Amino acid sequence: MATRTDATTKIFRVNPDQPEANYIEEAARVLRDGGLVAFPTETVYGLGANIYRPESIKRIYRVKGRPGDNPLIVHLYSIEQVPEVAETIPDSFRILADRFLPGPLTMILPKKQSVPAVVSAGLSTVAIRIPAHPVAVKLLAEAAVPVAAPSANLSGRPSPTLGSHVIDDLQGRVEMILDAGPTGVGVESTVLDLTGERPRILRPGGISLEMLREVLGDTVEAPETLDVERPLAPGMKYRHYAPKAPLLLFHGELSAVEEEICKRLASQVEAEEKVAILTFTESELAKQELPTNVILYSLGSKARPEEAAHNLFRYLRLCDQEGVERIYAVAPPRQGVGEAVYNRLRKAAGGNVVEI
Ligand code: TXA
Ligand code: MG
Repeated sequence: MATRTDATTKIFRVNPDQPEANYIEEAARVLRDGGLVAFPTETVYGLGANIYRPESIKRIYRVKGRPGDNPLIVHLYSIEQVPEVAETIPDSFRILADRFLPGPLTMILPKKQSVPAVVSAGLSTVAIRIPAHPVAVKLLAEAAVPVAAPSANLSGRPSPTLGSHVIDDLQGRVEMILDAGPTGVGVESTVLDLTGERPRILRPGGISLEMLREVLGDTVEAPETLDVERPLAPGMKYRHYAPKAPLLLFHGELSAVEEEICKRLASQVEAEEKVAILTFTESELAKQELPTNVILYSLGSKARPEEAAHNLFRYLRLCDQEGVERIYAVAPPRQGVGEAVYNRLRKAAGGNVVEI
């Protein structure tokens, strides 16, 4: 049955540092044979399929409920595999690979004809990523085929940063889930287009603009339009990373932002609406006693946006689990990986940002 997406899912708890060889071998076999395997990367969990099995790639779209015009990232275990999927390899790729790979940087290059069109949703380019997580590295090496993998969530939901998130979304729909506990970075890789005149960030992520500019200089473009209105990566146009409750994002100085949140909170307290506030450890609100219908989640220190990156998606999913009806989020400073956190929050807010 061509449209069937259900499956019996094998779940393996894998040691993240020293993955068990028998689990890796079995998962690699499933991938090679055209099955779908969810696996951890250092950013978020991915849902992988062999790029040479177009039917399996199509199944990824069905299983996730992913729009057909949103291309997938091809995962490799080594730089040596790049010529298998890319038509040409510019110097900038080699320079950045030297510095940042394996790691949370995805680069777009001209696609080789031999990569099935469905992988890149018909585009002439291909997104390439060499992840650093030991489970991903071992799995990709053992599978020995390039693996297309979007984040392992149902389309529109926050990306999975725990094995349990993947199980919640995909159990019964894929052949295998490798659960190796929490991922590290917590937001997805940076997507950098190297096919234009200048390198251009299409999605901010684990490798920041500052880090890229340190290596390539100011030629790296980071368009202000990394937004819902004018998407660059096809995937950036969809409401995304979204909890069920409406989320309002506040950008500005922390104390002024929290004052504004408190004002708005009054009506929800009155209506006994369940509210979550996402803020930072420097928060004044965190020191106060809050009404019982208000939950406060601390993303970490404002000064260390890596903490917010690591925690963000887990808290967005917790909001759903707790039945939260409204979310107020404080934006992190837009520096380093803070830009990626800001971008995800802005998308979760459907573009609703209150500037204070
Ligand atoms: O960290 C990550 O990148 C994770 C892990 C699993 O590797 N993967 C991930 O994949 O976030 P996904 O499918 O959720 O997001 C891929 C993004 C989308 O915004 C998509 O539009 C963009 O990359 N993309 C993929 N191929 C592209 C291409 N050829 N040109 C432009 N954008 C592309
Ligand atoms: Mg995704």
